[in-house]
Amino acid sequence: MPPRRRRIYEGKAKILFEGPEPGTLIQYFKDDATAFNNKKKGVISGKGVLNNRISEYLMVRLADIGVPTHFMRRLNMREQLVREVEIIPIEVVVRNIAAGSISERLGIDEGTPLPRSIVEYYYKSDDLDDPMVSEEHITAFGWATPQDLDDIMAMALRINDFLNGLMLGVGIRLVDFKLEFGRLWEDEQMRIVLADEITPDSCRLWDVETNEKLDKDRFRRDMGKVEEAYQEVARRLGILPEAGPQDIKGPKLVQ
Ligand code: TMP
Repeated sequence: MPPRRRRIYEGKAKILFEGPEPGTLIQYFKDDATAFNNKKKGVISGKGVLNNRISEYLMVRLADIGVPTHFMRRLNMREQLVREVEIIPIEVVVRNIAAGSISERLGIDEGTPLPRSIVEYYYKSDDLDDPMVSEEHITAFGWATPQDLDDIMAMALRINDFLNGLMLGVGIRLVDFKLEFGRLWEDEQMRIVLADEITPDSCRLWDVETNEKLDKDRFRRDMGKVEEAYQEVARRLGILPEAGPQDIKGPKLVQ
C-alpha cells in the first residue's frame, strides 16, 4: 500500500502525492492496468516497480541531451520525485510504424512502416474517450497556444529520434508512443517540459528480430506473458532491479 501522504490525484496507473517541498510531487507507480478507457481492468504484477525504473532511465537520458522533463529523482521502488507542472490536457502520440488505432482508422496493416513519423493529438478526457483533435481545436479552445504547440512538436520529434536510436541499440523497434507535457513556472518564466511517464504502458515496443510485442498490447489483447515483457524491456535497458523478478513483487506477507 502507498504510504499515507496527501493524495493530490489518482489516475489509472499512478498516484500523485504532495511532495516534500512546494512545487514538487511524488509519483507512485501502481501495478494496475487498464485499457480501452477503463473498460478492461487488471493487475500486472511488478509493473509499478519496472515502470518507475524505466521512466526514470528514459527521462534521465532525455535530460542528458537537453530535453527538459519533470523528473527529479527516484525515491524508492515505486516512487519518484517530480516537479509539479500544469498538465496540458493533450496526449501527444508519435508513430513510426502503423499499429493500433491508426491501423484501424485508416485500414493500414499493422507493421507497415509509415512514410514519415506522424504526430497526433488527443484531448485528455475519460468522459469523451480521448478524442483525436487537431491544432485548430487545441488553439481555438485555448488548451495550448500555437507557440506551445511548436515547442511540443519539436520536443516530440527530438524525443522520437533519440528513443528510436536508444531502443534499436537494445534490439527494440519503437513503433509508437504517447507523451504528455506540462507548464513549469520558474521566476515568472513559463517553460514546457516533458511530464507523466515513458514506459511499456505508453509505448509500443517490438523485438527487432521476431516482432514479438514487449508492451501493454500483451495485456490489451490477452496475449499472456505480460510481466515477462515489461521485465525484458528493463533487462535490455540494463536496469532490472538487482534482486531479480521475485524481489519486485514486494515483500511476502508473513502470517
Ligand atoms: P493507439 O494506437 O491506441 O492510438 O495508441 C498509440 C500509442 O499511445 C500506443 O503506444 C499506446 C499509447 N497510448 C497511451 O499511452 N494511452 C492511451 O490512452 C492510448 C489510447 C494510447
